[in-house]
Amino acid sequence: MNLAHHREADRLTVSLMGRLDHETAPTLTQVVDHELDGVTELVLDFDGLEHVSSLGLRVLLAAQKRMHGIHGSLVVRNVNPAIATVFEITGFDRILEYERKPRRLSIDGLELIAKGGNGECFRVDEETVLKLYFNHIDDASASREKRLAKKAFVAGVPTAISYEVVVCGTRTGVLYEMINADTLSKYIERHVDHLEAVVDHYVGFCRQIHSIVPDQGAFPDAIDIACGHVEACDLFNAGQRAAILDRLHRTERRSTLIHWDLHPGNIMMQGDVPCLIDMGDMATGTPYFDLGPIRQILQFHAETGLCQKIIGLDNGIARRVWPMFVARYFNNPPPDELAAIEENVRFFQAIRNVLLYRSGTGGESMRARRKDMILQLLPREITQAPA
Ligand SMILES: Nc1ncnc2c1ncn2[C@@H]1O[C@H](COP(=O)(O)OP(=O)(O)OP(=O)(O)O)[C@@H](O)[C@H]1O
Ligand SMILES: [Mg+2]
Repeated sequence: MNLAHHREADRLTVSLMGRLDHETAPTLTQVVDHELDGVTELVLDFDGLEHVSSLGLRVLLAAQKRMHGIHGSLVVRNVNPAIATVFEITGFDRILEYERKPRRLSIDGLELIAKGGNGECFRVDEETVLKLYFNHIDDASASREKRLAKKAFVAGVPTAISYEVVVCGTRTGVLYEMINADTLSKYIERHVDHLEAVVDHYVGFCRQIHSIVPDQGAFPDAIDIACGHVEACDLFNAGQRAAILDRLHRTERRSTLIHWDLHPGNIMMQGDVPCLIDMGDMATGTPYFDLGPIRQILQFHAETGLCQKIIGLDNGIARRVWPMFVARYFNNPPPDELAAIEENVRFFQAIRNVLLYRSGTGGESMRARRKDMILQLLPREITQAPA
């Protein structure tokens, strides 16, 4: 068996080729024993793997146990039909998280219904849409989004059913249940005469998500993910990096869900009932991880004029929504408390931008702007930390 491994922030991807049996399993064991420091997501890519023996299965179990022990996850991707049958016969399909080799699909003739920052959405039929990621987006994104969307659904998040990962040419995507509805952005515009009530509804939905406690280990921990990205980010000197990591480590760990991009463009309104989409960054952590990106859109991009373009909400209305949203989320705190809250929100807004900077969301010009934005959002004690 040939084996190659590749580390990206907190994710380790191990690609296996040939057979996983008594001769080759020790190589995988060695990687698991020596390469997992700081890893929260272990991906085993079976694309080139033809066979798994019983010993191979035991090594997989040991790797999974190891990952769960450090509150991380193990996912097996690109499983061929023969190995999938072995998983089913042995009952591993109920223990192990795995995905079959994706089906190939053509988008010829499909109607493009929307475009987001990471991909495009096509109508496949009356009940199904295809979210197809852009080529420059990490090709593990589709698989992660599909998995997290399914787990979120099971945990009680109102969201679309995620069916399967597919490949279209060089791009990967996810087939989703079609949600026939407008976004919350449009809903807010339609009900602008009752803005306070609509914002209350939005706040209530966010709090609902933030109160869900999923099964332990089902979602990654946002602090771990954030630390991985800050460590790997080329924007900071050693002192700044240490100060950011220190603040993240001092942040309260929470077992409740966050979406990490909870803006009104990612909430669909079926009548008055919200449904969440765009689930690729779901994690557990403090709600501040969500409030940062919400401020990014409703406050920052309302000022740059891009809010309308990014989430389809009028910039002027968005400017009114943010102060109402933050005050109501925290039950109308007194001004000094609100100022402290805003300072913390800005920190988590900076963190979100570190992730977006590293993933390249928004293209090269946005990447350059993010650099300034991040340094402006971080407090002085961090930006001016001695190098
Ligand atoms: N299940 C669905 N049913 C109907 N429309 C959908 C569905 N999923 C996505 N869409 C449409 O496609 C758009 C883009 O989807 P999504 O937000 O998941 O992509 P994205 O590129 O990650 O977006 P973002 O710009 O927020 O990062 C949505 O705003 C929505 O209009
Ligand atoms: Mg979106």
